[in-house]
Amino acid sequence: MFGCGAAAQVGAEARQRGFSRALIITDPNMVKAGLVDRIRASLVESQLTGEVFDGGVPEPSTAVVDAAVAAARQARPDFIIGLGGGSNMDVAKVAAAVYAHGGSAGDYFGENRFPAPGLPVFALPTTAGTGSEVTAVAIIEDPARRLKLAVASPYLKPRLAIVDPLLTLTCPPRVSAESGMDALVHAVEAYTVLDYDALDVPAGARPQFSGKQPITDALAERAIRLIGRHLRAAVYQPKNLAAREGMHLAALLAGMAFNSAGLGAVHALQYPVGALTHTSHGLGTGLLLPYVVGYLLPANPNAFARVAFWLGEDIAGMSAADAGALCVEAIQRLKCDVGLPMRLRDLGVREADLRPMAEQAATYQRLLRLSPRPLDIAALEGILRSAW
Ligand SMILES: NC(=O)c1ccc[n+]([C@@H]2O[C@H](COP(=O)([O-])OP(=O)(O)OC[C@H]3O[C@@H](n4cnc5c(N)ncnc54)[C@H](O)[C@@H]3O)[C@@H](O)[C@H]2O)c1
Ligand SMILES: [Fe+2]
Repeated sequence: MFGCGAAAQVGAEARQRGFSRALIITDPNMVKAGLVDRIRASLVESQLTGEVFDGGVPEPSTAVVDAAVAAARQARPDFIIGLGGGSNMDVAKVAAAVYAHGGSAGDYFGENRFPAPGLPVFALPTTAGTGSEVTAVAIIEDPARRLKLAVASPYLKPRLAIVDPLLTLTCPPRVSAESGMDALVHAVEAYTVLDYDALDVPAGARPQFSGKQPITDALAERAIRLIGRHLRAAVYQPKNLAAREGMHLAALLAGMAFNSAGLGAVHALQYPVGALTHTSHGLGTGLLLPYVVGYLLPANPNAFARVAFWLGEDIAGMSAADAGALCVEAIQRLKCDVGLPMRLRDLGVREADLRPMAEQAATYQRLLRLSPRPLDIAALEGILRSAW
């Protein structure tokens, strides 16, 4: 469900599906912003109960998921509401599955580790960024390895996504900027990965990320156009409803696009950058995007020329190569305008860190196998060096 005011229908939607007891998985900022009260009021109006777990934190670890599961064991809900940015929604998605199947969040890293669906989840995003409300993946930190890892399973997909731009009006400018750049990365990566037909896998063995198709292209194009038009205003005029609406739709469409098409080198490189610098996911992906685009450009200049055009650049009369180069510039400008750091060294990364980070990134074949230009450790290190 998408639209201003949609969140007020959460109680009615749950009741229609036969649910009666919710556990709302969220964080203290959502309580402070009055969003939890709004959700509870809707539940009460439809004669449902809503317990609250507000132990969510940005970039959560398995410990947060396990605490949410413990809260669920107390509250015995028949469905879960994930309210917040990607962090809270990811916790809600994994907690709902771990609650049903037992064990701890750390037992489920990797692909397809849940044998069946868990508790149903309603996801209500409060940032315009991750698209987690529609994806079959959650990103959780493994404290033992001090690294964010994916838990991926079709059973993680929320039963219902309620995407209400009104929930983003209190989102702080920095979070709006970083998560908004992440949405742009999702759309650009989904639009520029290899084709669906390029993956040579036996029938029935298709991975979740399986290449771009006309449907994901349409979603990505619309998302990129919306972000080019609305991200700056969403950051600098937090109450600008048209901008918030445009960005929330963009993040949703970008999530739908990458959930099928896949992601690429930007995401593979962000994991080690985030682990080393303790910066947010969106800051890292946004910072890295223009440098990765610079590397990928020769593989498909036409695609990046179109991205430049959708971001609002005038490419009339330009060669594809020149228009593609303009794409790099357009992304740098947007990144700079919304206040993201420009270079890895601005985050305290040292030159000696680049090689080990490239080695780490190269292990994420789930993300790299769809790259339009081959990526080995040397190429990844080259991208990091240009970003540094
Ligand atoms: N599952 C996926 O498909 C997917 C995709 C991309 C990223 N992620 C993950 O999502 C996380 C990042 O999520 P994010 O960028 O949405 O940020 P976030 O969820 O970490 O939120 C950042 C901060 O903003 C606050 N906040 C969010 N919305 C607010 C609002 N409306 N009002 C007031 N405060 C608000 C939160 O309380 C939090 O402190 C990372 O862990 C990342 O790895 C997941
Ligand atoms: Fe992302």
